[in-house]
Amino acid sequence: MSTATQQPEADALVLFGATGDLSKRKLFPALYHMEAHGGLAVPIIGVARSDWNDDGFRQHAHDSILEAIPHAEAAVIEKLLARLDLIQGDYADPKTWKSLAATLRKHKSEQAVFYMAIPPTMFPTVATSLASVGLNDRGRIVVEKPFGRDLASAKELNDTLHAVFPEERIFRIDHYLGKESVEDLLVFRFSNTLLEPVWNRNYVRSVQITMSETIGVEGRGSFYDGVGTIRDVLQNHLLQVLALVAMEPPAGPESRYQQDEKAKVFAAMRPIDPSALVRGQYVGYRDEPGVAPDSSIETFVAARLEIDSWRWAGVPWYVRCGKGLECNATEVVVEFREPPSLLFDEAGGPKPERNLVRFRLGKRDGVTFTLQAKTPGPHLDSQNVDVAVDFAAALGERREAYERLLGDALDGLPRRFAREDVVEQTWRVVQPALDTPDGVHPYFRGSWGPAEADRILCGDKWFVPSST
Ligand code: BG6
Repeated sequence: MSTATQQPEADALVLFGATGDLSKRKLFPALYHMEAHGGLAVPIIGVARSDWNDDGFRQHAHDSILEAIPHAEAAVIEKLLARLDLIQGDYADPKTWKSLAATLRKHKSEQAVFYMAIPPTMFPTVATSLASVGLNDRGRIVVEKPFGRDLASAKELNDTLHAVFPEERIFRIDHYLGKESVEDLLVFRFSNTLLEPVWNRNYVRSVQITMSETIGVEGRGSFYDGVGTIRDVLQNHLLQVLALVAMEPPAGPESRYQQDEKAKVFAAMRPIDPSALVRGQYVGYRDEPGVAPDSSIETFVAARLEIDSWRWAGVPWYVRCGKGLECNATEVVVEFREPPSLLFDEAGGPKPERNLVRFRLGKRDGVTFTLQAKTPGPHLDSQNVDVAVDFAAALGERREAYERLLGDALDGLPRRFAREDVVEQTWRVVQPALDTPDGVHPYFRGSWGPAEADRILCGDKWFVPSST
């Protein structure tokens, strides 16, 4: 599919941090799937500081793929491994960059994608070093999250990158934007006529977004303890999901229209009120390897947000996310206002409950409408019935986020990436929570976080996610 914003296809993929954790867990498995689906046609050049040779690198890629995809086909892996080269060297050493430029010349590459699967502190060095050998002239740069640590550092990073790459060639990854279930929010909302008339403050009572994970920090303690839940997932994944639920219809499929609408949502959003935010930390977190014994970093956060627009003013947006919680789920629940109840006012009879639209965005994704239907019997009573669709059953197999996003980066499609102003707006929204880090409330693993999270609800209740 082509849009007006499509850029030329890439002729090489350069992977910085090729021997790191992200490459192992996500990128090599995604590259395997691309190869299996016939979607890979370029050489892949790994760059890493580790003291490895080409064979060691290929073996590492091979093992990473099999760990993630135990039934991976040997022939597909072989085809992928044949594309790999490794450049080993220090990022601060000019020789590394000369050698990268020479390798790209060997492959006759003029339009490479540079993927930064490296710690954010390295982004400026890599970006400026690419420019030192002229590789910024035509290439695209893909930047992993977290993009900055706060508003000031995000702006600084944008300035650093813009000094060598124009905005249209900076692809900021948020892998939630590559999930079919998340993109479906846009399609479901704007391709179903029955939703749009009621998708506003006149009919919607509240919106709740939950991202819960049962795992703890699982060996990522030293990374996580410098980041916390607000920076790890709230500022990016959850706010991107929120924007898709809240935004006005984009004027067209081109990337800029969608980005414009997201930017408008955040511009109309008040910065988080620290008194409407609760941070939690699971009991045992401070004993995790790499975590400070007196750490006050949150592993859970719940917050109430407001969008002061004609569509949404007065509607609370509750977001809740954390690790060590009861189940794995990512869900958006849109709760509608209650209907008039005079018709159902028989003595002792229940009032109709509020309708819900539940978007299940996690592994078993789909949509559930919770509606009212007549309870069998002589009275005019109603009860909840679920009208549900599981997308895997209805729509068949979908591709993983990283496969889609790597494909987009190579094809030059910016739509599923985050634009500079949108990222800065999201930092502006969460900044007060970073400026006034209150203490963390302890909670037990397997719970729904600290009980204090209830205090941000304005007479509402948390919905228990239905998906695992
Ligand atoms: C990552 C976070 O961006 O998203 C992790 O750094 C989190 O902490 C992960 O576990 C969740 O992604 P998914 O796709 O499993 O919901």
